[in-house]
Amino acid sequence: MVNLGDIFPNFKAETTIGSIDFHEWLGGSWAILFSHPADYTPVCTTELGRVVQLVPEFSKRAVKMIALSCDDVVSHKGWSKDVMAYAKQSGDFPYPIISDKDRSLAVKLGMVDPAEKDAAGLALTCRAVFIIGPDKKLKLSLLYPATTGRNFAEILRVIDSLQLTASKKVATPVDWESGKPCMVVPSLSNEDAKKLFPNFTKVDLPSGKEYVRMTTEY
Ligand code: BEZ
Repeated sequence: MVNLGDIFPNFKAETTIGSIDFHEWLGGSWAILFSHPADYTPVCTTELGRVVQLVPEFSKRAVKMIALSCDDVVSHKGWSKDVMAYAKQSGDFPYPIISDKDRSLAVKLGMVDPAEKDAAGLALTCRAVFIIGPDKKLKLSLLYPATTGRNFAEILRVIDSLQLTASKKVATPVDWESGKPCMVVPSLSNEDAKKLFPNFTKVDLPSGKEYVRMTTEY
């Protein structure tokens, strides 16, 4: 398992854009690696199609995208035409898909869904999401079972939070969206908070403790 803050493990893989060394492919960019159980399956088709539609949003945030499943590259290339048609998009498929036929990456990265098996009885990959920072460290991970499709609007929302909190001493509250008020991080003293966020406000609570400190400027 990869833990938050770990350097994401490097690997070599076959993909729809040829062989890659993952760290070389990352360069110094933010990236999302997301796995799905299998090609030519309905939920996966909706998910990869949604990501195709959201390419401009990922590009705006300078996040490289790469998908992964257990099928081979020939299968990925054939299926990606269905994904484009389903998503009503034209042109080349806009991001690479890794082939993990022997499940070595699925095992290495903790992405196996034991409940879902292929025709040969081999476990499939679950719906994992890894968001990796420019320092190649894991910033966020999600694991969904094969039977539950992900919400990529939520994934863009967490990328906004991750990118903001990487450089500012704020944390984003429940259901936060870009531009909405944030909280000053608990580790910052009131004195330092005043310097960074001159207009921050404290929320009155029964305990009298001033731990909920909001700022609209960040
Ligand atoms: C799907 O993508 O629809 C799917 C794949 C594996 C198991 C269940 C659903």
